Amino acid sequence: MRLDIISIFPEYFSPLDVSLIGKARERGTLDVRVHQLRDWAHDVHRTVDDTPYGGGPGMVMKPEVWGEAIDAVVGGGAASHGTPRMIVPTPSGRPFSQEIAQELAAEPWLLFACGRYEGIDSRVMHEYGARMRVDELSIGDYVLAGGEVAVLVMVEAVGRLLPGVLGNAHSAVDDSFAPGAMRNLLEGPVYTKPPVWRGHEVPDVLLSGHHGKVARWRRDQALRRTVANRPELAAAIDPATLDKHDRKLLDDLAFRVGPEDMAH
Ligand code: ADE
Repeated sequence: MRLDIISIFPEYFSPLDVSLIGKARERGTLDVRVHQLRDWAHDVHRTVDDTPYGGGPGMVMKPEVWGEAIDAVVGGGAASHGTPRMIVPTPSGRPFSQEIAQELAAEPWLLFACGRYEGIDSRVMHEYGARMRVDELSIGDYVLAGGEVAVLVMVEAVGRLLPGVLGNAHSAVDDSFAPGAMRNLLEGPVYTKPPVWRGHEVPDVLLSGHHGKVARWRRDQALRRTVANRPELAAAIDPATLDKHDRKLLDDLAFRVGPEDMAH
């Protein structure tokens, strides 16, 4: 997969040299290219922003600079990769999710356009939206100083899904938000050796070697944790995916799952 990132702070992306993503780059699974936006600004100050039309605080990133940058980056690779899917991180975007990470992991080429200040002139998304898929995505309901950290988050979430990036091919299968039986369930607590640490014991069932009981215990823990930490996720669990034991546990927690009962 090819990844282009355009930013006024290319140095933000040095974490992509390390760990899983760094190894994937060394192996050639990931071809990451980081570009300095100011390379396409032509005045002496290499200006990338200006005051907003209509007034208001802050500055807006200029469309001409972005247009030249994107044309240069996209034009350069057109022969081998077609057009990229463009991602613009912004707190005003659709929520980024595991589902979107999976969708992006299937793309051959992603282009991330990092805005700073109040954002990028909207005509840039309009212009490129006519030629390629453009998604404005938010990583959460908080405001960062710019899109760089959001891009690091998305690149890591997407990168670990690429074939051969995770050491253990099965590690991504029971992620909390992966599709399948455990969808909408958070992962429960995990333990390793020693069996007793500072007086705290590992739950007996995990030492029992009884796979059925371990699986049941893990599911109980997942349900409990989801109800406690993410009640809105727990409420969205499809009741058809719950067995008798699950229902009893949720009853004991006085937690209701599925659509509201219209009777009262
Ligand atoms: N830029 C600033 N805040 C952001 C957020 N929450 N998600 C994505 N990009 C952002």
